[in-house]
Amino acid sequence: MPKILISRHVGDHAMSILSSSGFDLIVNSEDAAPSREWVLKHLADPEMAAMCLMHGQPSDIVDEELLNACGPNVKCLSTFSVGFDHINVKAANERGIKIGHTPGVLDDAVADVTVMLVLMTMRRVENGISLVKAGEWAQIPWAPFVNCGPSISHPSLTISFIGFGRISQATLSRLLAFTSTSHPPRILYTSSRARPDQVSIDQAFSEKFGVEIKRVEREQVAKQGDIVIVLASQNPQTVDFVNKEFLTWMKKTAILVNCARGPLVNSEDLAWALENDEIYGAGLDVVTGEPNVSADHPLVKSRKCVVLPHIGSGDYDTRNKMAELCVRNAINGAKGEALLAEVKV
Ligand code: GLV
Ligand code: GLV
Repeated sequence: MPKILISRHVGDHAMSILSSSGFDLIVNSEDAAPSREWVLKHLADPEMAAMCLMHGQPSDIVDEELLNACGPNVKCLSTFSVGFDHINVKAANERGIKIGHTPGVLDDAVADVTVMLVLMTMRRVENGISLVKAGEWAQIPWAPFVNCGPSISHPSLTISFIGFGRISQATLSRLLAFTSTSHPPRILYTSSRARPDQVSIDQAFSEKFGVEIKRVEREQVAKQGDIVIVLASQNPQTVDFVNKEFLTWMKKTAILVNCARGPLVNSEDLAWALENDEIYGAGLDVVTGEPNVSADHPLVKSRKCVVLPHIGSGDYDTRNKMAELCVRNAINGAKGEALLAEVKV
């Protein structure tokens, strides 16, 4: 009987889909990541056909070691995430193993957190909460410009996106509810390379959102953005995209928000930029090295920086939709059918 390996309970809804799939299920029964040995042992089972795996679980990193451990019938590895930076997709595909992921269903949830971080960062919420919790409120009594930040409805606002995929677009539609209606913001974005029909692509974006939208090069998103939002996938071209050079280009009044992957922003350079007032503040849902980020990490200690523990997709409905897509990919893959969402590189 062919089997599916589930490295973590994925919620009752998705588990019931798995239960009625006709496959034997090997489920990690602990409410914790399994050991690497447990994963490798079960993948080697000649009847193992697919696996549901988690981003952020060291046991589930899909590298040569894991791929070499796979038995002859493993046809699909399905990740409970849209990002696939923990997976060597090319090596998997070369072995005839398909990679499933969960695009689309989390766009709104991640956009919500992105907007929240934009507002929190602009209005210095980290500083406000920290001073209240430290009992310092009375030491900084109200004054016209105390605890203030840059205005999101400023009449000449520019919003820059690093990456302009679905999540960036869901973020933009939300942000337009906060920006000036009489003086709409200008939108700039970078993407890997300009297309031959770039002008008409940008025209279509501008019509869709009712504001001017333009693809520019890296230096211009940095120099012109009042709000710079990182929402691109991680790959060798995007690691350290926001480094010291980029941060120095940014306006001193601008903020940076990263809801993509930690390594797109160089942490040391960002800490330096905040310390030296090179930018106004930062909001991060992701940090290089997460979850091993200690309380004395310079970005955690900075009152100009909000750090969240990678909660972008974390609302219950979204996680259930991700779970469903993850298990349906695994079931389809195990049957040798097309996945609902396959990663191809
Ligand atoms: C979240 O970061 C994801 O990749 O799903
Ligand atoms: C990036 O991952 C996006 O969809 O915007």
